[in-house]
Amino acid sequence: MAIPSQFLDEVKHRTGLSDVVGRRVRLAKKGHEHSGLCPFHKEKTPSFTVNESKGFYHCFGCGAHGSVFDFVMETEGLNFREAVEKLAGEAGLSVPQERPEDRAREERRKTLYDVTEAAALFFQSQLGQPTGAGALEYLKDRGLTNQTLSDFRLGFAPDRRDGLKAALIGKDGITEEMLLGAGLIIQPEDRNRASYDRFRGRVIFPILDRRGRVVAFGGRILGDGEPKYLNSPETDLFHKGRLLYAMEKAQVAARSGQALIVTEGYMDAIALNQAGFEGAVAPLGTALTEDQLIELWKVAPEPVLCFDGDNAGVRAMARASERALGLIKPGLGLRFASLPSGEDPDTLVRGQGADAFKAILDAAQPLSEVLWQMEAGNADTNTPEGRAGLQKNLEEHARRIEDPTLRAHFLANFKDRIWARREGGSGGQGGGSGNTFRKKSGRGGWPGRAQPNRNVFAPGEGTNALKQAKVEPSRKREEILIVTLITHPELFDDLCERFGSLSFYASDLDNLRQEALKTLAGDQALDAEGLQGHLRQSGYAEILDHLLSSKGLQNAFFARPDADMETALEGWEETYTLYRQSDLRAEILEAQQLLAAEKSAEASERLRILKSQEHGAVTKNAK
Ligand code: UTP
Ligand code: MN
Repeated sequence: MAIPSQFLDEVKHRTGLSDVVGRRVRLAKKGHEHSGLCPFHKEKTPSFTVNESKGFYHCFGCGAHGSVFDFVMETEGLNFREAVEKLAGEAGLSVPQERPEDRAREERRKTLYDVTEAAALFFQSQLGQPTGAGALEYLKDRGLTNQTLSDFRLGFAPDRRDGLKAALIGKDGITEEMLLGAGLIIQPEDRNRASYDRFRGRVIFPILDRRGRVVAFGGRILGDGEPKYLNSPETDLFHKGRLLYAMEKAQVAARSGQALIVTEGYMDAIALNQAGFEGAVAPLGTALTEDQLIELWKVAPEPVLCFDGDNAGVRAMARASERALGLIKPGLGLRFASLPSGEDPDTLVRGQGADAFKAILDAAQPLSEVLWQMEAGNADTNTPEGRAGLQKNLEEHARRIEDPTLRAHFLANFKDRIWARREGGSGGQGGGSGNTFRKKSGRGGWPGRAQPNRNVFAPGEGTNALKQAKVEPSRKREEILIVTLITHPELFDDLCERFGSLSFYASDLDNLRQEALKTLAGDQALDAEGLQGHLRQSGYAEILDHLLSSKGLQNAFFARPDADMETALEGWEETYTLYRQSDLRAEILEAQQLLAAEKSAEASERLRILKSQEHGAVTKNAK
């Protein structure tokens, strides 16, 4: 029997390669690697290296190369199994053996399949009986045809404690023990009480494995009630994290070129099938697992995950995309389709027809697009901090991709999009409909003022660019600067000069800045209350409410009305300094990264301009 690869991984994981090698070779650590004199050929200078993180040794002299198992085999003359056993033993593990119990378990599985098959037949037959009339009506009401009922082997579990149990025990040697093993009956903890049917009064959805064998069941209540669906427990046959409902059909469809579609529910998979989308499957009531993703990729290189348009659907999509990142490889991807809010595939095909669903399928977006929308949808790309933050978040996603080529493509794609959005203003591709992630009123672009100087490298601007390369500071800092003055107008004298030379990037805040300065210049005796009253009358009530709220004053204790003048002044000055500098630094950093990434003349010019600003102090914003 082959040793399971998970076990080998576990042994490797617990065994330090350099420790094992170090017993025979004197190793010196340099950088990520250890090196020493090769034990496989004679040498005077070390050309033998051990890369712990990659899990192999390599000799640049003689080409010897291998894993920790190879090393033990080579140096101790053992065969593979012996080497594994030795290292496993040292790590306190024992190698799985094919034991008599395993064989017995295999036998038991065989009979369990017979039990689940018999149960499926029983449930199916009930649908044709008077007891099952209500269930049949329910399924018909949900639009299922007779053909679909029989294709999916739908059935009904009578509402009795011993419906299935009484019908099956004794039939073809089926025992109570077997029914328990198949998860079909439940034994109360009190052993004196009789076991009883797990599924009672429910429509039954048999769950088949890829070979078409019944391994478990889902049962839906007729109409409303809790729990809506009940599923078989995990059994020897059924591991819900690995199976996908309707996969036995979908694999055939996918091979003949149909889309492999992952929906959220049994009924969705069935309704889509009936509407001609025979590649539809569903996980079993849990979020899509890694094992399920791997199963999907065995069948199709780019399955389409289809999520409901509600919040839960959006969250599920986010989780699935996260999980997929660690697993995608060149040629193995995912697409994401998002339904209108309030619809699931079942209601959509039934209400609007197959074409409507086809359109949604055609609009499915690749993983990179979904991640972009998730992160950029409500990110602020108008400030260096915002862009840097967005880039960092996207890079975090991309870093989870193991394949280096694919990772590089994702990174490059994200970077391009950030710049495209910044310069184009609106951002990204694929906006528009079905765009669940883009939040309604994100600060994607601040309202108001036209910003002609946004694009530093607009054609023909030449040396003007220096003046125009105004670094965009963060809105939060602007808020803090202005609110400190509004709560402490007595600081006007100290601040007016610096305040007057600024121009806020956020147009609404800049208008407020101008109004406040104008007002205070006109009436220097005005106190906070008077100033605020005036500003409210001039149309700034809403923004003042926000600025003076506890949220607005968060992170700026010195701006609170009860802070004393000295504290307020100190806080203001600190914020002012950061405001004039940090943005510049962030931009320089960004420009350096860009230059490293694309080495264009533009990028190098941009960096030069920013650097000159850094040295020549901050250029005053000529306005
Ligand atoms: P949904 O609640 O989205 O149900 O659950 P649905 O598929 O649209 O069901 P209908 O249309 O009301 O019949 C999606 C899936 O989650 C699992 C089931 O696998 C279901 O198909 N689920 C749901 C459970 O396991 N238990 C529940 O109580 C509810
Ligand atoms: Mn539904």
